[in-house]
Amino acid sequence: MASLRNIAVLGGTGQVGRPIVKALIDADFTVTVVTRSSSLNPKELNGAIFVTSDYTNESLVEIFTGQDAVVSAVAAGPPIAAQKVMVDAACQAGVRRFIPSEYGSSSIDQPLEDFKKLMAPKTELIGYLREKCRLHPQFTWTCLSGGALFDVGIHSGAWGFSVSERTATIFDTGEARFDSTTIPTMTQGVVSVLQRPVDSANQYLLIRSFIVSQSEILAVLEDITQSKWRVSYVNAENLRKEGWRLLAGSNPKQGIESIVRGALFQGQKDISVSRDVLANTQLGLPITNLRDYLESIVKN
Ligand SMILES: NC(=O)c1ccc[n+]([C@@H]2O[C@H](COP(=O)([O-])OP(=O)(O)OC[C@H]3O[C@@H](n4cnc5c(N)ncnc54)[C@H](OP(=O)(O)O)[C@@H]3O)[C@@H](O)[C@H]2O)c1
Repeated sequence: MASLRNIAVLGGTGQVGRPIVKALIDADFTVTVVTRSSSLNPKELNGAIFVTSDYTNESLVEIFTGQDAVVSAVAAGPPIAAQKVMVDAACQAGVRRFIPSEYGSSSIDQPLEDFKKLMAPKTELIGYLREKCRLHPQFTWTCLSGGALFDVGIHSGAWGFSVSERTATIFDTGEARFDSTTIPTMTQGVVSVLQRPVDSANQYLLIRSFIVSQSEILAVLEDITQSKWRVSYVNAENLRKEGWRLLAGSNPKQGIESIVRGALFQGQKDISVSRDVLANTQLGLPITNLRDYLESIVKN
């Protein structure tokens, strides 16, 4: 497969998409960020071309013509299913690689029932991509799963820590270990896939930075800050159940966050992936040290 140079990024203004765009520009790709006409997100990032689309087939085919690859980082929820339109347009425009909006816990062979339900649209899209590749042999896909995105959950407080207030919310015992990946490792993963397209064609790749528990993170944070953090405890099962109530009713966004935290931190099942199946080495990803990484977060 000839090298991929021209990359269109959908959802490139979001919390995961923006760092992907930046990493692709730093790696010398030519990047076109496709953004909705209705988007209020800033439409500038040094070195990127911004185009707006109404996400009709016609508009996307026009934008994708001349692009070698499409990377999607559209938001969770309804936009995930809407990616079928993007896949169709990419095939029609002769795009050779599609990276769908995954990045989180695996949407295939998912051991947690709650996650399986939440991720059904992502799982379905992979079936759709497989079918498209069968019909259009020049078209290929790669998925990247990182587990919990470490920085996103630390900054939002979703993993239970407030660095500024030095408080921790521990779910159940805090001993459940969970898989996570830092944003720099994830963005480097996307870059590596596009730099080595043959090795990653039609593959669902798992990458991880840390497999760690809340208690382990707290111990490192207390050591770095040389202080005892104020800790409160939450029952993970109650949080999970409340999440499903919120998802069905008044606050779907909060609902998803509660389900994810409740299910992830319950620790009834070991859900961490075996290191043998990770693609970190295949993609040449650097090893990240948990303490160094947390230290940089605390300092900033
Ligand atoms: N595992 C984790 O911890 C974790 C955490 C966060 C995200 N993720 C995954 O990463 C991916 C991206 O999530 P994110 O948090 O970065 O998303 P986000 O910031 O909420 O949104 C990303 C972009 O999606 C676009 N978008 C929003 N609504 C859309 C719509 N109706 N149709 C088309 N595009 C739309 C917007 O771009 P424009 O405004 O420019 O159109 C937005 O900037 C998702 O697959 C999510 O599940 C995983």
